[in-house]
Amino acid sequence: NLLSFPQTELQKEGESSRTNHLTIKIFFGSQTGNAEELAKRMGRKLQSVKFPVSVIDLADFKSVDLTKESYAIFFISTFGEGEPPDNAREFWEYLSSSEAPRLENLQYALLALGDSAYPDFCQAGKNVDKRLEELGAKRIYPRVDCDVDYEESASKWIDSVLEILPRSLQISDQNEQALSVETKGEGQKVSVPLTPKKVSVPQPPFNKQNPFPSRVLENRRLTLMGSEKETRHLELSLEGSDLSYLPGDAVGVFPTNWPVLVQEIIETLGYTGEEIVPTPSGENVPLREALYRHYEINSILDDFPKKGIGALELVKNLRSLSPRYYSIACSPKLYEMEVHLTVVVVRYIQHGRWRRGICSNFLAEASPKVPIPIFIRSNPNFRIPSDPDTPMIMIGPGTGIAPFRAFLQERMAIGAKGKNWLFFGEQHRATDFFYQEELEDFLKKGVLTRLDTAFSRDQSYKIYVQHRMLENAQDFWSWLQEGAYVYVCGDAHRMAKDVDAALHRICETAGGLSKEKAQEYVQNLRSTKRYLRDVY
Ligand code: 2AM
Repeated sequence: NLLSFPQTELQKEGESSRTNHLTIKIFFGSQTGNAEELAKRMGRKLQSVKFPVSVIDLADFKSVDLTKESYAIFFISTFGEGEPPDNAREFWEYLSSSEAPRLENLQYALLALGDSAYPDFCQAGKNVDKRLEELGAKRIYPRVDCDVDYEESASKWIDSVLEILPRSLQISDQNEQALSVETKGEGQKVSVPLTPKKVSVPQPPFNKQNPFPSRVLENRRLTLMGSEKETRHLELSLEGSDLSYLPGDAVGVFPTNWPVLVQEIIETLGYTGEEIVPTPSGENVPLREALYRHYEINSILDDFPKKGIGALELVKNLRSLSPRYYSIACSPKLYEMEVHLTVVVVRYIQHGRWRRGICSNFLAEASPKVPIPIFIRSNPNFRIPSDPDTPMIMIGPGTGIAPFRAFLQERMAIGAKGKNWLFFGEQHRATDFFYQEELEDFLKKGVLTRLDTAFSRDQSYKIYVQHRMLENAQDFWSWLQEGAYVYVCGDAHRMAKDVDAALHRICETAGGLSKEKAQEYVQNLRSTKRYLRDVY
């Protein structure tokens, strides 16, 4: 069912406190000891990779205030006719009562145990799972219902949940003595011995093969109500990553697919989602996981309209889900431990079906609870001039403004004296003037020498950035004569071509060059790396 999809992965809020509620609580409701054994095993595993964890008998659930907890893992077996085990009865009464509190802070995963020979297979676990969700708790991984031969599926489930726990929860070496797995049962604390250390946690160096799970610090809309677009500003943390970047660099983001689409595919093509299939790197995972995390699925329902294709056959025909790149919109001089992105969210209806840009929608919905796997892609051909006195002309309509925000921040931070001229364009001034305040502040501070805007739909005819260039051809030409660098960022298909034509035109009209000489001039700008483009 849709509700049991891993819509979100978990991540703690704020760096500061290692208070108790950031300890991962592992609860067990166990009749014969299987759920208890699994809970303790998971406790040891988490401990071995330095997660703060306590294992708690559900009979003792009152020792913990669930409304204050952030992360809980439940192992719940079923007894008799779909009933909870004895040690979980009181907990279930409490949870199912109308007085049960809201659990909005809680993120959880639940493994159910049962025996399929009985009609209410895994019912106690199913009930708790459903009720936790009703109370507002967020499921971070789908429930698995284990039969009597639970060993393999339970182990896999434990490993998968471990994989998505937020790395920021892990305890650093100096706090290590604070780490002990406790089992609270019948009022006693029992120390569980350590198992050998297994490192399945991403470690530096972070790169495309080993992306850094970064935390979302901010995710806000830049376009105001009434805009035809949704463009967003995201700030991602690099804390603990050892990653560094320069203005002009890009961030690679590994998205996951839209859970609703995954579910639609599974249902339309008649799968259960549990079919085991290989990932592009050869690991075996359930189909649901593969479609969520590993393969491109945006147009799959058009390509595979019929039921009957095997799950293996299906994934063989899919491309692996690749990272998307975004120009970094900030300077490391101001935000050493962050990267900012300017993201336009791609959503439209085609053939009666919603189309969604995979990564832009993934980012649009990103919250501090979802670590975003990222890496840095260097862009050595798109740098500010090494001489801080050299003038820069930047042409960046739409999200093309991103690297120029970084350039301006950088020049401000280093106190560069060179002049800076920015051309920005969007549909409407009132709703689409990204970073307006910041840009006006740059103007006030003299970091930005000139700002020319082209709001294409504020009048009956189109005004684009290249029109503003042409209107200011004489000044543009003078800046070129002073050695200005020209940067273009944004749409490659139309904008960059039209801007290129405008540049040639300026050389002809303001520079008085013939068509051929203008071409030579621009070619020379290019070969001396004074005309730089980052277009997509
Ligand atoms: P439009 O959507 O009104 O046509 C950012 O997307 C801005 O770039 C929008 O104002 C958009 O205008 C404009 N734009 C569209 N085509 C362009 C082109 N060929 N050259 C420059 N800007 C363009």
